[in-house]
Amino acid sequence: MKHLLGIKNISKENIIQILATAQNFKEVLQRPIKKVPSLREVTIANVFFENSTRTRLSFELAEKRLSADVINFSASSSSVKKGETLLDTVQNILAMKVDMIVMRHASVGAPHFLAQHIDANIINAGDGTHEHPTQALLDCFSIQEKLGTIEGKKVAIIGDILHSRVALSDIFALQKLGAEVMICGPLTLLPKYAYALGVKIETDVMKALEWCDVANVLRIQLERQQIKYFPSLREYSLYFGITKEMLDKLNKEIVLMHPGPINRGVELSSDAADSHHSIILDQVENGVAVRMAILYELAQGK
Ligand code: CP
Repeated sequence: MKHLLGIKNISKENIIQILATAQNFKEVLQRPIKKVPSLREVTIANVFFENSTRTRLSFELAEKRLSADVINFSASSSSVKKGETLLDTVQNILAMKVDMIVMRHASVGAPHFLAQHIDANIINAGDGTHEHPTQALLDCFSIQEKLGTIEGKKVAIIGDILHSRVALSDIFALQKLGAEVMICGPLTLLPKYAYALGVKIETDVMKALEWCDVANVLRIQLERQQIKYFPSLREYSLYFGITKEMLDKLNKEIVLMHPGPINRGVELSSDAADSHHSIILDQVENGVAVRMAILYELAQGK
């Protein structure tokens, strides 16, 4: 692998290799000295054209734990504001002898476009509503850690599937690893191409919860709702919001996930998000080890 642009075009073997390497790095992160010299010769630029908390910080921490040199670029305080293009921006960063680019961009396909023009490794940290491959890998790692395996497990992805880059990457990764996947939400927030994805489709949240071993709840992407997909947040919460009471009355073990940031009281009540069902903060913790593994594997490939 030279780049990690998405999950669609990587193999099951690539995914298994990254998860195994992440397990080793998770063990490193439990030690008093959490740093290894693996990327001592490597310089990485984190290039973020969209806001981020978890992805940006865990990439930066992963890079520092691997002893890489790190620079951070934020579009809002850069010369992009003066009209500089994406390609010019990245080529100027690479002129400073940078080896890898971690990029988040609002446009679908932005990292794929870059990959055609530059020689450095590129990691897609989220491109518009398309893919978020590192989130899918940390989600798979977290499910495997909690349930022992992904093969044969039932995973329901619930919420705003239409605007979610996590949904598509999760579907590809989970299916490659042998899980059954369901998507659930109001029909207006399910993409038209959903039928081509080989997933079950459900509009009743309680039925989805009864079916699954893992409920991965996605946030309503308020910043991407140019038109009204549902009457109000209150109504969305009433029909599609998940509460602890709903999880408790299932009479089975269920794993609750969310990629963050959570809209508390909309897709998840606070008591559900903070309940014993939730592995949301484990996902965040695992993000560092998984991103260390991705950086390490790409550096080996180069
Ligand atoms: N899950 C995720 O991508 O969160 P951030 O937008 O905070 O990076």
